[in-house]
Amino acid sequence: MLLADRVAIITGGAKGIGKGIALKFAREGCAVVIADIDLKNATETLAQAINKGGRGIALGCDALDDKQVRATVDKAISHFDKVDILVNNAGGMPAAPTPIEDMPEADWDKVLTLNLKSLFLFSRAVVPHMKSRKYGRIINLSSAAAVNPPAHAIHYHTAKMGVIGFTLDLAHTLAPFNICVNVLLPGPVRTDFYDTMLGKLTEKEKDVFFDELGKGDIPLQRAGTPEDVANAALFLASELSSYVTGDALLVSGGSPLRPVHTPIQKTLDR
Ligand SMILES: NC(=O)c1ccc[n+]([C@@H]2O[C@H](COP(=O)([O-])OP(=O)(O)OC[C@H]3O[C@@H](n4cnc5c(N)ncnc54)[C@H](O)[C@@H]3O)[C@@H](O)[C@H]2O)c1
Repeated sequence: MLLADRVAIITGGAKGIGKGIALKFAREGCAVVIADIDLKNATETLAQAINKGGRGIALGCDALDDKQVRATVDKAISHFDKVDILVNNAGGMPAAPTPIEDMPEADWDKVLTLNLKSLFLFSRAVVPHMKSRKYGRIINLSSAAAVNPPAHAIHYHTAKMGVIGFTLDLAHTLAPFNICVNVLLPGPVRTDFYDTMLGKLTEKEKDVFFDELGKGDIPLQRAGTPEDVANAALFLASELSSYVTGDALLVSGGSPLRPVHTPIQKTLDR
């Protein structure tokens, strides 16, 4: 197993990509601390991990509240004696995108705060512990959209670019302590993330949306899954990546490579 005896905190681990990471890590021998504002689904995810032979705890935690963040880190250490891995996954687009001239200031603040303050608070709480042990892996969730915006969502894309800057800075300063800090840039992954943009669609309508998105925008011709992202997170959490820090890994089915049916390709094909 790639993470035998490791301990990981996964923020936003109740659903979506974070859930995929929690289940994958648990199967690889890691104790998972699922820290999410949604305790009900966090508990359900933990039950699934335990069902498959994993171990861990589920904690209700708002990643934007320093007191709750510190309590989560303290509980993780008191349960498992250490924290080896932090996955700063909590994030998303709680305010729908609009043209910049129509964007309420509150929406800008909400999206930047969720995607940036959460990883600042969790990293700040965990780094002293990792430094003292001379070991750590921090994995941050940005987005392929930060470097190749597929549509106008300036609050989200700005925040996710900030996640890359945060990662590069921290990677440099923590390298002497054997703490590796890397960032994942997923392409579109079918999760509840899209709900604020799409409104309430039926599962059938979502099938059509993600099918068209995959075929239209992604060279590998499909949207991603939480497991696709979890596989990359596993690499960055394990010793397979012991000489990798400050890296930004696209998990995006070939995007932002141009899809094969771009206008220029159509011209060449004629
Ligand atoms: N789904 C995609 O296409 C996609 C693509 C690129 C990047 N991402 C990023 O991946 C990460 C996970 O996204 P997802 O698609 O799984 O979204 P999701 O909405 O399915 O899950 C997000 C999780 O974060 C939790 N959360 C939200 N606010 C929180 C807070 N303040 N404190 C603690 N937990 C909180 C939610 O309860 C939920 O469990 C996000 O950072 C997102 O921006 C997603």
